[in-house]
Amino acid sequence: MSNRTFTMIKPDAMRNGHAGAILDKIIKAGFRVVALKQTKLSQEKAGEFYAVHKERPFYGELTEFMSSGAIIAAILEKENAVADFRTLIGATDPSKADEGTIRKLFATSVGENAVHGSDSDENAKIEGDFFFSGLEQY
Ligand code: RTP
Ligand code: MG
Repeated sequence: MSNRTFTMIKPDAMRNGHAGAILDKIIKAGFRVVALKQTKLSQEKAGEFYAVHKERPFYGELTEFMSSGAIIAAILEKENAVADFRTLIGATDPSKADEGTIRKLFATSVGENAVHGSDSDENAKIEGDFFFSGLEQY
């Protein structure tokens, strides 16, 4: 079990002014920031990041949305990081997310759902390395 996960604060949450509140919840939940940056994805880069969803009907919408504005990318550390972070953010569809979760509080729809969280240790490593060099991870 690895102790790291990767997250993005998505363009909807950035536009709606929720970035500070989301980072506060993450840190108060016991995650340590290993790396953090604000950036903006091109649609091509967003497509590369979400390549696993290439055949899904929502792929075009997803990559368009993810490249529509600034995002914050971060690597986070905590015991059982991947699973605990998925619990903290809640279900993909915010209407199905548990009370108090980040998506329940800050997401607007299944497409614009405020945050990304890695779904496995393997993907956490791949996704973190997509945004950050070794020197930028401490
Ligand atoms: P994420 O990867 O962003 O953390 O989200 P997730 O694991 O909860 O959900 P996933 O199945 O990996 O889907 C990736 C993102 O695609 C968008 N989506 N839209 N319109 C739709 O039916 C639909 N389904 C998924 C969401 O933004 C989801 O977070
Ligand atoms: Mg996913």
